[in-house]
Amino acid sequence: MKKYRVGILGATGTVGQRFIQLLQGHPQFEISALAASDRSAGKTYAEACAWKLTGVIPENVRDIEVTPIEPPIDCDIVFSSLPSSVARETEEAFARAGFPVISNSSSYRMDADVPLLIPEINADHLGLIDIQRQKRGFGKGFIVTNPNCAVVSFAPPLAALHRKFGIESVVVTTMQAISGAGYPGVSSMDITDNVLPYIAGEEPKVEIEAQKILGTFSDGSIQKADFDVSAQCFRVHVLDGHTASVRVDLRETATLEDVVAAMKTFPSLKLHSSPEVFIDVTEEPSRPQPRLDRDNGNGMTISVGRVFPDNVFDYRFVALSHNTVRGAAGSAILNAELLIDRGVI
Ligand SMILES: NC(=O)c1ccc[n+]([C@@H]2O[C@H](COP(=O)([O-])OP(=O)(O)OC[C@H]3O[C@@H](n4cnc5c(N)ncnc54)[C@H](OP(=O)(O)O)[C@@H]3O)[C@@H](O)[C@H]2O)c1
Repeated sequence: MKKYRVGILGATGTVGQRFIQLLQGHPQFEISALAASDRSAGKTYAEACAWKLTGVIPENVRDIEVTPIEPPIDCDIVFSSLPSSVARETEEAFARAGFPVISNSSSYRMDADVPLLIPEINADHLGLIDIQRQKRGFGKGFIVTNPNCAVVSFAPPLAALHRKFGIESVVVTTMQAISGAGYPGVSSMDITDNVLPYIAGEEPKVEIEAQKILGTFSDGSIQKADFDVSAQCFRVHVLDGHTASVRVDLRETATLEDVVAAMKTFPSLKLHSSPEVFIDVTEEPSRPQPRLDRDNGNGMTISVGRVFPDNVFDYRFVALSHNTVRGAAGSAILNAELLIDRGVI
């Protein structure tokens, strides 16, 4: 199997470290370049990085010299996990220099010509890439994005329901892990023994991204799914794993069995990082829980439970996913596998 050489922008951060962990032993990718801020550039990765994942810094990256986030870097594919403050300009520069850019940042997610991908749901949105290249004059380069880490937890069950019954409206309350704020993130004095009812900039993202993901691609553009989302986002005292409490009104009548079957039968893909089960629905009354379920399917499965008829809306359920795996690095790697599988890279 051909090996592609990948570079990681923001390699020393929370998501960057998860990329390095998930890429160990990957059959299609080998890490060839690591980039971060001026604080890190010029140091070896081991000198620059405060490694926060289980185990030690992998041998294959310890001695790589961290470069600034400027093209070109020595790779075939760029994974970006930069803060949105620098991502927009930098990702465009890499795409313009001919690199496929696979981004975790929010900077391009809602641009009309940029795919916002969950490969199991909307792989056909890759059709935007040719339009993007022409419109922006990118040549061989392009940008694709993966969704906000909280949106990833509930968009898949919504996609299952939307395909079968249509969605009228959604109310979602997210309970988001500390690692979602990056490192060092929220102060321990603020989060210990506490729930924070505000995450800067989060609610607007959670209210608009699912409609693009569930939209249809035709005549060169995405027609967004026609439903409203009302969101409240909370930071909670959990290390990894975002939970979403969802209430949904459907367009067509559906029994509880129909709703559960729609979610359970939503197919996974056959890519290297695809989980065997995409949406895992449990009847266990006290699940899903972040500590017990975030690693379901190597962190790539969406765990759903508490699916019941609701007194005000049609149905309610709880959805959970690993925010730095399915919500970030794992999704970006899956996107790269999809791009290769579909012949885009
Ligand atoms: N954490 C999550 O669960 C999650 C999930 C989905 C998406 N995201 C998104 O992914 C991105 C990264 O998040 P994170 O949690 O990994 O953040 P983080 O832990 O704060 O890491 C940020 C990374 O970006 C680099 N960086 C910061 N400022 C820079 C600058 N001005 N120029 C160049 N490099 C700079 C840092 O390098 P130094 O070490 O050299 O400072 C570090 O490598 C953000 O856009 C975030 O919204 C995060």
